[in-house]
Amino acid sequence: MPPPAPTHIGRYLLEAEIGRGGAGAVWRARDPLLQREVAIKLLSGPMPGEDRDDTQRFLAEARAIARLVHQNIVVLYDYGAVDGRHWLAMQHVQGCSLSKLVTKEGPLTPARTVEIARQMLRALRYAHGQHLLHRDVKSSNILLDEPTGMALLGDFGIALMADTERLTTEGVALGTPEYMSPEQCQGMELDERSDIYSLGVVLYECLSGKPPFLAEAPLAIAYKHVHESPPPIQRTDLPPAMMAVLRKALAKRKEDRFPSAEAMLEALDQVGDRKPSSSQPVLNNDNLRSGRDRRLPADRRAIDRRRGMRRGEDPASESGPEKTAIPRWLLAVGISLVALVLATFLLVAWFVLSHS
Ligand SMILES: Nc1ncnc2c1ncn2[C@@H]1O[C@H](COP(=O)(O)OP(=O)(O)OP(=O)(O)O)[C@@H](O)[C@H]1O
Ligand SMILES: [Mg+2]
Repeated sequence: MPPPAPTHIGRYLLEAEIGRGGAGAVWRARDPLLQREVAIKLLSGPMPGEDRDDTQRFLAEARAIARLVHQNIVVLYDYGAVDGRHWLAMQHVQGCSLSKLVTKEGPLTPARTVEIARQMLRALRYAHGQHLLHRDVKSSNILLDEPTGMALLGDFGIALMADTERLTTEGVALGTPEYMSPEQCQGMELDERSDIYSLGVVLYECLSGKPPFLAEAPLAIAYKHVHESPPPIQRTDLPPAMMAVLRKALAKRKEDRFPSAEAMLEALDQVGDRKPSSSQPVLNNDNLRSGRDRRLPADRRAIDRRRGMRRGEDPASESGPEKTAIPRWLLAVGISLVALVLATFLLVAWFVLSHS
């Protein structure tokens, strides 16, 4: 008989299992002390016969992740271990993962894909600035928050903490094969360009409906990352500038990729005809209902204004929220007219007074 499902972890009351990934299960739970919902990730325990003491390494990693405070990163609240299994309490995101959205709705519009890319690049720019790599950027780790429509990157550093061997060769372990960079597939040392490659895979998936390299065996996928070009995406509405950014993110040699998230963000700002001032919602209820989103960002902004939707601002973005400015020339004409009326009034008053 399987052991009974746990009812609580630490002070958190487990309510329902949300889902399961390679590293463990995620539960919706309640924090009775702070009276809020949380998500608890219970990492898989050591294999039978395995005697691992990763506590110090886990703690160091959890401390680093807990320092990440960014509007596009899932907040880590708490961490602990029970019966040799490590758990993390994190912000509960109300919504679905990007992976589920793409499965449900099919390929996304270029505009929506670019907005997701921007938000994820801001999250990566911030984390890389703190010397933290994600190591497992993939569509199921990007959560779309329904109330705000924002994309949040979750499971930071979990790949390292979980230490799950998802490929069979020793030394080639961390990450998920479909999203792993060529150097990650080969067990080489990673830097921020590996996360950029994985984000490139996610963007390819957004545009085509599936990641570029698929196969039954993880090693076959890894081989394709190292040796094969991504199949062309069969669509006619993809801006060439955007495809150039995607190609560069997916370059086999890390030297040929963007050197940083910031550099890729700058390149994306050249795609399309506008420089974005702030994050735009990538999810709204209409999108969830109506299948593929064909609206342009400007249309979405108008809808959001009508709904009075509050937008989170990126602390790293240079410019503030949009303002409705009065054109300078209109202001000048207005002031001149007022001055003219005033002068005429004074002239008439002087004339009347001096002749009475
Ligand atoms: N903080 C969270 N808030 C709400 N739902 C979450 C949260 N974190 C994960 N989930 C959901 O829980 C489910 C399982 O997530 P999990 O991270 O375990 O799976 P995964 O990302 O597919 O695999 P991996 O273990 O490699 O990360 C997913 O459907 C995900 O959307
Ligand atoms: Mg995950």
